[in-house]
Amino acid sequence: MTLLQASTLVVGSPPAAADQPTLRQLAQARGIAFGSAVSQQQLAADTGYRDWAGAQLGLLVPETEFIWGHLQPSQLQGPNFDDTDQLVAFAESHGQQVRGHTLTWHTDLPSWLTRDVAAGVIGPEALKDLHRRHIESVVGRYRNRVSMWNVVNEPLAENGSLRTDAKTGFWALNASAPGDPQEYIRNAFHWAREADPDAKLYLNEYGAEWGSAKARGLYNLVKDLIAAGVPIDGIGFQTHAPVSSRLSGLEDTMRRFAALGLEVAITELDVRVPMLADSDELAQQAEVYGQAAKTCLSLAPACTSVTTWGFTDAHSWYPSSEFPSWGAATLLDASMNPKPAYHALSAVLSSWSRPTTSPVGWWRLDDWWNAGTAGGVATDASGRGQHATVTGPALGAPGRTPAASAFLGDGGSTQAKTTAAVLNTANSFTVSAWVSMSTRGQDKVVVSQDGATLSTVRLGYDAATDRWIFTVRDTNGTPVSVVSSAAPTLGTWTHLTGVWNKGWGRLLLYVDGKWQLQQATEIGALAAAGPAPDALRIGRSQTGDAWSGAITDVRAYDRAVPDAEVAQLADPVVGRWTFSGDPGDESWFMRDAWPREIDGCKQDPKVCNDNSVLHLTADRHGAGYSALALTGNHILDVRPTGLFADRSYTVSAWVKLGSKAADGVLMSQPLGDFNAFALKYQKSNDSWVFKGSSTSIGSPSAPIGQWTHLAAVWNAGWGRMQLYVNGVLTAQSGATTNVASTPGMTIGVSAEGGRLVGALDDLALYQRVLTPAEITALAQP
Ligand code: XIL
Repeated sequence: MTLLQASTLVVGSPPAAADQPTLRQLAQARGIAFGSAVSQQQLAADTGYRDWAGAQLGLLVPETEFIWGHLQPSQLQGPNFDDTDQLVAFAESHGQQVRGHTLTWHTDLPSWLTRDVAAGVIGPEALKDLHRRHIESVVGRYRNRVSMWNVVNEPLAENGSLRTDAKTGFWALNASAPGDPQEYIRNAFHWAREADPDAKLYLNEYGAEWGSAKARGLYNLVKDLIAAGVPIDGIGFQTHAPVSSRLSGLEDTMRRFAALGLEVAITELDVRVPMLADSDELAQQAEVYGQAAKTCLSLAPACTSVTTWGFTDAHSWYPSSEFPSWGAATLLDASMNPKPAYHALSAVLSSWSRPTTSPVGWWRLDDWWNAGTAGGVATDASGRGQHATVTGPALGAPGRTPAASAFLGDGGSTQAKTTAAVLNTANSFTVSAWVSMSTRGQDKVVVSQDGATLSTVRLGYDAATDRWIFTVRDTNGTPVSVVSSAAPTLGTWTHLTGVWNKGWGRLLLYVDGKWQLQQATEIGALAAAGPAPDALRIGRSQTGDAWSGAITDVRAYDRAVPDAEVAQLADPVVGRWTFSGDPGDESWFMRDAWPREIDGCKQDPKVCNDNSVLHLTADRHGAGYSALALTGNHILDVRPTGLFADRSYTVSAWVKLGSKAADGVLMSQPLGDFNAFALKYQKSNDSWVFKGSSTSIGSPSAPIGQWTHLAAVWNAGWGRMQLYVNGVLTAQSGATTNVASTPGMTIGVSAEGGRLVGALDDLALYQRVLTPAEITALAQP
């Protein structure tokens, strides 16, 4: 019967216009697979559903059919493969791949299993034996037919360690030796490999899509597994995203796993919208779907597939107990009509390519995951594969925020070196980096390329003039340089950009985004390559001049980057939350803000990790859901911590006070039980207050119900704190000091209490003093 259904299907008309390529075809043409979770029940019951799945999908993931509790609800009767058999047969008749989901999961286990394990009837060895036999029977049955397996699903807790709590730690607690919680994972992969040596074996996880504690925990786990010889082929990133998400950081995270030699895939993509969804939200949802596809295309062939978690809003797992008031998460509406998301996905798969304006080499060098290890690889985030080999324990030095790391030049041998030249000096090019220099005295190299004796390109520091310097060589081999107008400040993060503008025949140097001296004489052209064509080096030149201090975010472009774009590269922001639908950090540092419902948490800890408790409201222009609403019931945790509170900083925010009944904190960092930094409404004197670790300053008054701009400035060099209200300096401290924070950063409350009731928007952190002019610009209504 299944086969009959399947054969009628092939001739059935797909819902898209006949001449339109299917998502399956479009993806395949780009070297990836497009798939979806499907349910056998729906395939059997619903023709429209079946036709669409048969035509549009290149990859099927049985939504529940392979899950142990579904396969084998009764221990006595053994597994029932009817649904899986039919589903796999359907896939085969349509030439579709199948991903088996999942062999090892703490959810939807058979009730007899959890009951007997809890009662001690099934002991650790017996459980391992059942686990092994389950994997052997399921994988063995579909050997050569199911081509990839989610061998282990969701093993990690939110803090990045393996789940070991009573509620979700079933496998680590009951099927691993004490002190070795990874044992059950190693076992599962080994048994799966034995049962089908050709199937791709994946570990599948949610919440590790960007630089979170969970992403780092996953990375460390996977490195452990690889080191232990575990046969793991890939990592699945589920990517259940709220409509507000930008998927910022997803590409970077996936790239790091790919750099371990693994496949990566987006395995359960859906984009949930708070119900009821309006057309703006559906347009935004389309952006997110498109972004997911761009991410996978950028990483192909390491990224193998994009799989959605269902394809019609008629059959979706939303609303779920975790996300009660969300839905409309898939590509088609409940009547199977394509939504904007479908068209966006189709457009990206058919014609998107990386913009030619993007860098040709990009080494972030903030790889704290390899902190302190000798050697290693600095991955090239440009997507062009120019990974740089690192010499010495140069990764993992303190970076531009307490959360980020950097490359550390030791003034000797540390460097990061590509295998081939990156800059083509015959044409215009640009090279840029953030640097913090630790000593003067000797010439220093940030980036160089070419040359046994003299680099063709060299960005660095010139000791003789005590200036930043950018040097190239003209066609005669003569060095030509531009230098900065002022001497560097030691131990301060500075942004450097060197530009060779061939059309104009000029060399340009920018410091902190500002153009320095124009090269006086025009240079006709540059040497196309140096005397000894060589790799691009970071932190050193071939002949040995080295960098002393930190470097991060090195970028290379095959064009002259214009002024405005240089200024963007040099943006000193180290945290930016615009709440344009989401709590994501739009700065480089990806510190997403996690909503936590303080009172709800006490009843159900799960609520604390749920984006659905994020409340949004209209911003000061009255625009949609683009500001943060705070009810006093919930706050946001910023992970990891935001600022070095002992160094100069500026915090800028828009606030609308909703209640004066109590203190209300906009943003804070703790110092034990007190604050290292807090910006708040203080009830006792009815004013805005900027509180440091030892001093507080306050404004004369604070209006209720009015959007107000606040800027708090700590000038460590001068030893003064300042508070600006609507761009006007309203309070200033005498000489004072501030010390570093203890870990943590919170929006909406501080260590000393005071939950804000009202709205917040456009929070930004800077690790330097902003000028009054810069603050005035931020305070523009
Ligand atoms: C959901 C399914 O859609 C439901 O049908 C199931 O009963 C519960 O979970 N991560 C996963 C999926 O790996 O299995 C989940 O699917 C969604 C979250």
